[in-house]
Amino acid sequence: MIPSPTATTAPLGAPTGAPAAATSDWWRSAVVYQVYVRSFADGNGDGQGDIAGIRSRLPYLASLGVDALWINPWYPSPMADAGYDISDHRAIAPEFGTLAEAEAFIAEAHEFGLRILLDLVPNHTSDQHPWFQRALAAGPGSPERARYIFRPGCGTDGEEPPNDWRSVFGGSAWTRVTEPDGTPGEWYLHLFAPEQPDLNWEHPEVRADVERTLRFWFDLGVDGFRIDVAHGMVKAPGLPALGPDADGPAGPATANHPHWDRDELHDIFRHWRAVADSYPEPRVFVAEAWVGDPDRLARYVRGDELHTAFNFDFLRAPWRADHLRTVIDQSCATLGAVGAPTTWVLSNHDVVRHVSRYGRPQPDRPVHMLAELTATAPDLELGTRRAKAAALLMLALPGGAYVYQGDELGLWEVEDLPEECLQDPTWRRSGFSDRGRDGCRVPLPWDGDEPPFEFGPADAATPWLPQPAAWRELTAAAQATRPDSMLALYRSALRIRRHHPALGDGTLRWFDSPDDVLIFSRDPGFICAVNLGTAPVPLPAHAGVLLASGPLDAGLLPPDTAVWLAA
Ligand code: GLC
Ligand code: CA
Repeated sequence: MIPSPTATTAPLGAPTGAPAAATSDWWRSAVVYQVYVRSFADGNGDGQGDIAGIRSRLPYLASLGVDALWINPWYPSPMADAGYDISDHRAIAPEFGTLAEAEAFIAEAHEFGLRILLDLVPNHTSDQHPWFQRALAAGPGSPERARYIFRPGCGTDGEEPPNDWRSVFGGSAWTRVTEPDGTPGEWYLHLFAPEQPDLNWEHPEVRADVERTLRFWFDLGVDGFRIDVAHGMVKAPGLPALGPDADGPAGPATANHPHWDRDELHDIFRHWRAVADSYPEPRVFVAEAWVGDPDRLARYVRGDELHTAFNFDFLRAPWRADHLRTVIDQSCATLGAVGAPTTWVLSNHDVVRHVSRYGRPQPDRPVHMLAELTATAPDLELGTRRAKAAALLMLALPGGAYVYQGDELGLWEVEDLPEECLQDPTWRRSGFSDRGRDGCRVPLPWDGDEPPFEFGPADAATPWLPQPAAWRELTAAAQATRPDSMLALYRSALRIRRHHPALGDGTLRWFDSPDDVLIFSRDPGFICAVNLGTAPVPLPAHAGVLLASGPLDAGLLPPDTAVWLAA
């Protein structure tokens, strides 16, 4: 919860007027900044980000002008999947800090006017979670195994996996265990890495334990959760084969998929919503749901379910006016029909950073994975110009928005990390063909002329992934004083957005425009124009320029440039 602005004294360094309005529907307009803990800031000098690091950078986050932080998993984990393999959901990983530090951080963030969302990972646990360890020890048919999805194998000796389901990271979704008596035994399901066994959501103890986790963190003052793989918890009875219905990169290819986007999920969400609404200042949820079409996504955010969902259609759209316009219209229509606000997102810790996506020839289809892109080299200058325009587009659209750490610095995907550094399970499970997601998880450059760019204290260990030397231009300190920098643009845009009555939740109205230009107005008195074409275009009639993503050319809007106008 955010204490009401009048009840607190602003801490040193907090910008005046920072505390977000204590309205109960703040989430309908919120700009949420994603903190990838391990790569944000290193407080204790071991080369990995931590809670002390985030606390030390709270003034930076508050002055950026975001409303809330989403903290990627900070729970105890063997880190087989960067913390998404959790061994204790109600504690803090020792490498990130202590529970006392987490509590202090939550309270301090609130004083800065920043709400806190955590990551809830309900689909699976770590294989080191006590429940899974007990399941292995207890053997087939035991109540301990019933909390997960164990099955006998196929073939004469059970040597084949129980069905044809695939792990998102490559290979079969099943791993065979050795039974306590030393014989090859049952198989268990893992839609992600083998170190991430799927929970059995038919089991009442699984449901009760996740509810306990929600209440545990809500009681500590946490304002909400991002729901990891919200489309995956429920599996079809009998675990029917996938057959030819392979999964696409962004979700199920078919309706009635055996393990994605099942209708039975929605009862779970309704229950969580009741828990969230039981708090005096209701808590909120955002769904990570990769589903087949926008109508299916809207089902996750019906009035008594989750509050918002990431807009991966927007993230995956190429930098092309027709694609973006279609996604914007579909999102507004489908989410509006269930009364939910739209949200917008350009990057996160699972996808290629958008500077690097937009800096390539744009395909005629959605795209987000490195393996889909590497045939061409990125033009980072072009990508940066487009990323600036995209930021103004995103922050002008109705609803809320997500900013992934480093977006505001214009960081690009580090595509040439040395192979020995790669840690994403995708790298190994793809047979070393897909480098995976480490390139968007490189530690932030804060200050100085060479790596590690003050990621940690002066004598700190080398950061867990190496930073490019060229990021010397992109440090937060270097950009803070450059009026044309990405950071300056984000700060200005977020400041205008916070105070302008037309921005945030609401609707938009399109203007007639050439095919490769997007122009819309928001009431009262605001126009956004984005030129995705190759020639300058005239600005629409306006009363003044509020902000532009690049130089305007004597009343013309140059290619790959966006502008905010007073109408
Ligand atoms: C989500 C996370 C991703 C993780 C996966 C498994 O997609 O964003 O990073 O690997 O879930 O938990
Ligand atoms: Ca550290």
